[in-house]
Amino acid sequence: MKNIVILISGEGSNMEAIIRAAKVQNWEKNLQARVAAVISNRPSAKGLGLAQHHGVTSQVVDHTTFAIDTNPREAFDTALIKEIDQYAPALVVLAGFMRILTPMFVAHYQGRLINIHPSLLPAFPGLRTHQRAIEAGCQFAGATVHLVSAELDHGPILAQAVVPVMEDDTPESLAARVLTQEHLIYPATIAKLLGN
Ligand code: GAR
Repeated sequence: MKNIVILISGEGSNMEAIIRAAKVQNWEKNLQARVAAVISNRPSAKGLGLAQHHGVTSQVVDHTTFAIDTNPREAFDTALIKEIDQYAPALVVLAGFMRILTPMFVAHYQGRLINIHPSLLPAFPGLRTHQRAIEAGCQFAGATVHLVSAELDHGPILAQAVVPVMEDDTPESLAARVLTQEHLIYPATIAKLLGN
């Protein structure tokens, strides 16, 4: 069974969808992988409790503790690599991990580092994607799973899901609609990448 490591910063709903897919046997959404660990850069991330609830090892590498280092981003990423590599993961899965990663980190996991972003990339990289999609008058929004490259929210697209934007949508209602699709395409893409 191949290991995957999931990195989170907050709610962890994508993380939970992946853990569930990996747990359920003989089901069409089954994912043949072991979620070896969940790592958060924020001690307060709600997803840490969820991981624990599912019996998955969870740990924290708190980015704020590296602030005094001469190169805080490199120091944090080096510490993160040390933790992740203990599990020899076939895939490192960013699931709401809200940190800009150094080129060193990205190069270390080249070809086995993936992210989910709540827009139809290349449209709306970065933050406030739902608000921006509504403001732009988009009739469709969605989510993208992509291989991570050095440039933020770029890299080869692996999967996308499309949802309609309703006339009365708020960023919150649109985010919720997109998130339900994220929970489907992320485990499915991981399964495909692992050759399931
Ligand atoms: C998800 O919508 C994910 O696409 C987004 O954060 C949310 C995390 O939710 N990620 C990004 O914006 C990364 N650029 P979750 O913690 O419940 O999975």
